[in-house]
Amino acid sequence: MVRVAGDTGVAVSRLGLATLPATGTATWSGGSAATCKPQGKGRIIQSRERGRRAFPGSVELRWLDPDRPDRHDADGAVAVLEAARAVDCPHQPVLTGSAFAARLRHGWDGDPPLTAVHRDCRGTVAGVLEVSLPHWDNTHLGEVAVTIDPVARRQGLGTRLFEVGVERVHRAGRTLVYADCFDQPGPVAFLKAMGLDRAYEEVQRRQDLRALDWGRLDGVYAEARGRAAAYQVIRLAGPTPQELVADIVRLTGAINDAPTGDLDIEDDDFSPERIRAFEAAQQAQGQRLYRLVAQDRGTGALAGHTMTAVQGEQPWYGGQYDTSVLRAHRGHRLGLLLKIGMLRWLAETEPQLRSLDTWNAATNVHMIGINEALGYRVLASGIGYQRHL
Ligand SMILES: CC(C)(COP(=O)(O)OP(=O)(O)OC[C@H]1O[C@@H](n2cnc3c(N)ncnc32)[C@H](O)[C@@H]1OP(=O)(O)O)[C@@H](O)C(=O)NCCC(=O)NCCS
Repeated sequence: MVRVAGDTGVAVSRLGLATLPATGTATWSGGSAATCKPQGKGRIIQSRERGRRAFPGSVELRWLDPDRPDRHDADGAVAVLEAARAVDCPHQPVLTGSAFAARLRHGWDGDPPLTAVHRDCRGTVAGVLEVSLPHWDNTHLGEVAVTIDPVARRQGLGTRLFEVGVERVHRAGRTLVYADCFDQPGPVAFLKAMGLDRAYEEVQRRQDLRALDWGRLDGVYAEARGRAAAYQVIRLAGPTPQELVADIVRLTGAINDAPTGDLDIEDDDFSPERIRAFEAAQQAQGQRLYRLVAQDRGTGALAGHTMTAVQGEQPWYGGQYDTSVLRAHRGHRLGLLLKIGMLRWLAETEPQLRSLDTWNAATNVHMIGINEALGYRVLASGIGYQRHL
């Protein structure tokens, strides 16, 4: 699952995928797709190692060239990801072809996923494998994401693709495999069957912007304003002005205070290059970025920020990205001030926006408290898994 990070989403869910040669095809022993006559031995057999079904026939993986992906592979991948979304998580926004193409080239912030597809015997893509090998930090891990066409499930194809992903992570010298999924019986059973352990839980919430109680929010904002009189709020749309980039690097780093459960991960390491890579990736994916910053009136220091993105191709849908306040400035209601300030700004500049989604670690009580005060409601849970190699 590739997700939009929320105010305090775990670092790993934001990690992109390293740029490694990932073109051409590779054949792996395995099976054919659901709708095709089995190839090779042609029988559904039990895997000796795990006592599960093994995919019959051969699994041919076609790695997509990020700059010039084969059209049938790219369109097929989008078709599978979209079919899976409609079945597994219909509340999620549609993945458009152009957003997928941008993800292939940029990932979340300049670490694009190595992406491969499996075509069945009729040439239809039946499964998508994405392997992320982060390079900004956490270079000890690799993330594996597998999505199988709903009509081709429970035949061992997911297992084969996952095994290839683990092998790719191992070959890159990484020692930890990370994967996540919605908290649903199928994917949870699958990742357990793949030998991963549950290590983190996060919750997705959605705010219905058409149902905001502005009278109440204005009252909360006025109170927060009183407590935060020493700060002014600055609106930054689009790329960060060059003179603020060093400060934005510091603010972004405050996200490392968010809980990460039992995940064996290290802090995110931000840099001006990474901020620019993030902005370029978001722009390529058609996201319109809005950042609200709190600045100490006395010293001019930046104290906290919150960021949202509105999808240009689906302008009714937006994502809440990081919200963080530096430790020295906590306790002044800056979180509330920034988030209600953002709602006011969006109401002016994106009046068509209907909803904002956010992800928080299930244990992040402070951020969740703010979000619930603003009217966010729980939509789903996600579970992060890991396996040491
Ligand atoms: C999870 C997913 C990849 C599984 O793909 P698949 O091809 O059906 O998986 P497999 O056939 O290889 O299943 C392997 C084992 O996982 C478990 N499993 C998979 N799906 C399951 C389900 N719906 N219910 C219970 N167990 C399940 C079983 O133990 C299964 O072995 P068995 O069929 O011999 O009992 C697929 O359902 C999917 O694409 N889901 C949406 C994306 C996602 O959540 N990916 C997981 C994170 S990487």
